[in-house]
Amino acid sequence: MEAEKIIRIAIDGPSGSGKSTLARNLAQALGFVYIDTGSLYRAIGLTASRNGVPLDAPEGVCPLLADLNLEMRLENGGSAVYLAGKRLGDEIRTPLVSQYTSQVSKLPEVRAFLLKTQREIAEKNNVVMDGRDIGTVVLPDAQLKIFLCASPEQRAMRRYEELLAKGEHMTKAQVLAELSWRDENDQKRELSPAKPAPDAVFLDNSGLFPEETLSAALELVRERLHLSPV
Ligand code: DC
Repeated sequence: MEAEKIIRIAIDGPSGSGKSTLARNLAQALGFVYIDTGSLYRAIGLTASRNGVPLDAPEGVCPLLADLNLEMRLENGGSAVYLAGKRLGDEIRTPLVSQYTSQVSKLPEVRAFLLKTQREIAEKNNVVMDGRDIGTVVLPDAQLKIFLCASPEQRAMRRYEELLAKGEHMTKAQVLAELSWRDENDQKRELSPAKPAPDAVFLDNSGLFPEETLSAALELVRERLHLSPV
């Protein structure tokens, strides 16, 4: 595929805004590859947690990066993260690993370490990539940038239901507190803070079903990229 014909769609937004659901559905509708960049950061959060790095001194993970065998492989229209050859699953989605991930993602060494991997994938494939800084830093030349948002209560409720389905027991109030802490941590960091690109389109999906959010995004794709679902 010629480099200039590659299409990149960036979806950024806070935790629980439904980015991954939209990005996955949109990639499937368009026949693009879905890239969940949060899972790369989560692999490093997991490494910090497994190696006893203190949560309030995340820089302890930096010396471990050189020997980290971290890969993102394209599988079934999406991506999977492998650490030391082992495919990572739900172990990167626990509340503790989420907290570690927010902490390690502040570090310049960690962001630089992951930037190349993310860009390389988007150089060779039509992608829908979700994260926090995709439209601002990773793919500033993305042809369409969506900033997805939803009310804090709605985001917390979605996350609560997700955790419940996985057998994690937290109250709704705990989930809302964890989510607010993480959003603030991600938005206030100095490097690549989670914020919309100046040319991003805001999409508020509070009260929308995933299919309705997908329809709204497909409308933007039609208008701006003149593309239709495959
Ligand atoms: O999207 P997620 O909840 O899986 O992301 C986990 C954490 O990783 C989140 O707290 C912020 C960080 N992250 C980031 O800093 N930059 C990205 N592109 C993706 C995630």
